[in-house]
Amino acid sequence: MSIQALEKAIEIAGGQSALGRLIDRDQKAIWAWINTTQKVPAEDVIKIEEAVDGKVTRHELRPDVYPKVKPMDKMRVTGGGKLNGSIKISGAKNAALKHMCASLLTDEPFILQNMPTTLRDVNFLTQVLEQFGVDIKKDADKNEMTFHAKEITSDFASYELVRKMRASILVLGPLLARHHTAEISLPGGCAIGGRPIDLHLKGLEAMGAKIKLEEGYVKATAPKGGLKGADITFPFVSVGATDNLLMAATLADGVTILRNAAREPEIVDQGEALIKMGAKIEGLGTSEIRITGVKKLNGATHSVVPDRIETGTYMCAVGLCGGELRLQNTRTNFLSALISPLREAGMSIEQEGDDIVVRRNGAKIKGVDIMTEAYPGLATDLQAQFMTMLTLCDGAGMISETIFENRFMHVPELCRMGANITVKGNSAIIRGVDKLKGAEVMATDLRASVAMVLAGLVAEGETIINRIYHLDRGYENIVEKLTNAGAKIERIS
Ligand code: UD1
Repeated sequence: MSIQALEKAIEIAGGQSALGRLIDRDQKAIWAWINTTQKVPAEDVIKIEEAVDGKVTRHELRPDVYPKVKPMDKMRVTGGGKLNGSIKISGAKNAALKHMCASLLTDEPFILQNMPTTLRDVNFLTQVLEQFGVDIKKDADKNEMTFHAKEITSDFASYELVRKMRASILVLGPLLARHHTAEISLPGGCAIGGRPIDLHLKGLEAMGAKIKLEEGYVKATAPKGGLKGADITFPFVSVGATDNLLMAATLADGVTILRNAAREPEIVDQGEALIKMGAKIEGLGTSEIRITGVKKLNGATHSVVPDRIETGTYMCAVGLCGGELRLQNTRTNFLSALISPLREAGMSIEQEGDDIVVRRNGAKIKGVDIMTEAYPGLATDLQAQFMTMLTLCDGAGMISETIFENRFMHVPELCRMGANITVKGNSAIIRGVDKLKGAEVMATDLRASVAMVLAGLVAEGETIINRIYHLDRGYENIVEKLTNAGAKIERIS
């Protein structure tokens, strides 16, 4: 944090008390930010920026949380070449976010390695956790972050913070388990469907929590003595509900059984980290997880599992563009539902030590049919990339989306680039065309955005992708990674 920037804001406001009045804080809080190691919470940083009319920016106050705003919100991709070279796969976003929430469960430091530290979603969640009093240190060079929730000083997360990222709801279970109360904004609607959180709430209620929904907030209280173990059967598989209840159950009194639980590798990774923290968990990776609550969890060090969605995205890129990529530090074993149709389509994919070598030389890929399903089925988060790959296939392929109801938003954009895709209900038929043509397109959500990048890599001419901030939520250094593999891609303002 920059003390000089804070001092400048105090000077502009006319003193510590005056600044305090402008941002609804007492002078003591301002004094503590100047004179102790306490950092200005992310929300107050925004209020200070507003109070001094932007003369001191949020980046100057907290560069660790608010990276310098780049006026570059578009990407230019010039299509044509094959992909060749190496790409290092980052730690999984969808595991990292859950581990970060689990840091609330212990008063000791929790160290995460192989962290995708530059992702916007990691930054958002950093802000949410700091609001609760978690001390967070980041060492970007080492891909390491340390979380220390010595004391939970607040149990409130505003809409302003939560709306940016649905995964913020995963603080609910850990907060209730350790702090016994929580007031969290309901996550806003999401471009890929309604995405309710009823299963999270029903599960916590089964563990004895009292939950009220008021003015867009979930207000939850644990019973006297804390959450109680419960036998919970999910009516359908939910990754988020499994995560939230798994974390909550580690500190509950008694045994919790989660039936029809999600089996995603990121949940297994989360469970393994919790076990290092002292949790008692059996059945990870199966649909029945049994957790015996303990009184206290300790600190731990854990390395985040590689990102299978990032890995699969670059596999589809090779399928589309041709060439050979060595994907470093990742595994084939949690991608079998993607690898079999890719092999059927004519690609070669081999694990070599800690790397995966992906090749497509010569012939066009063949059209294949796929269906998204909960793990171990094919991930919905890879559907847009797979569809983009099929746009140039020999013949036709069909994709059925069974997880989210509104996840074909990339289709009109791909069609504008010359793809031949017909959607009927939750299925799409992709008839292979000879080429795609560059166009100006819009990125609508994280995975749809990356689908536009892939299409641009192979399209004739230039593709300009607007609203690429979605990409920065989930793909670390995508421009650098693809450039190293021979792609022509750059950010433009
Ligand atoms: C997680 C992933 C996301 C992925 C999705 C499905 C993270 C941070 N995000 O999202 O990238 O696309 O899994 O693999 O890990 N549902 C309900 N009620 C609930 C919860 C879910 O109806 O209480 C529905 C959803 O609307 C959806 C389905 O269940 O149709 C699956 O959602 P879920 O598995 O919970 O997805 P997320 O955890 O939000």
